[in-house]
Amino acid sequence: MQSTSVDNDTLYQVVFDLPGGAITIMVSANEFILDAARREGIDLPSLCERGWCLTCAVKVISGSVDQTASLRFYEEDRQAGFALICTGQPRSNLHLRPGAVEEMRAHRDAHHLPAPRGTRSRSIKPPRTSA
Ligand code: FES
Repeated sequence: MQSTSVDNDTLYQVVFDLPGGAITIMVSANEFILDAARREGIDLPSLCERGWCLTCAVKVISGSVDQTASLRFYEEDRQAGFALICTGQPRSNLHLRPGAVEEMRAHRDAHHLPAPRGTRSRSIKPPRTSA
């Protein structure tokens, strides 16, 4: 999946708050955050992978995410501190809390914005470890 490209391959530090503790990975400015997490063995929920269904929603504790590639992402979502990492690219170092689909649906409902149903949140697994 392609997105708006940036001029460089700047690497950003992305911290995920996961059940087993915080995990830090490096993500390129031209890479979707979900893809980078998978590359590092972090199994996070997703479904459409087009920035529509909210399954991959995270809470942004700090930092900036480019959601240009998302099919449906609103300024209200950004202001409320949500991101869709399937189609989100880092524009700064980030601190993220995965597993925010229900929160983001509630936020969308409260703002009379589309909040797709039909998917369930699932628990976030700790990252795989190599033996
Ligand atoms: S997986 Fe559907 S919005 Fe990210």
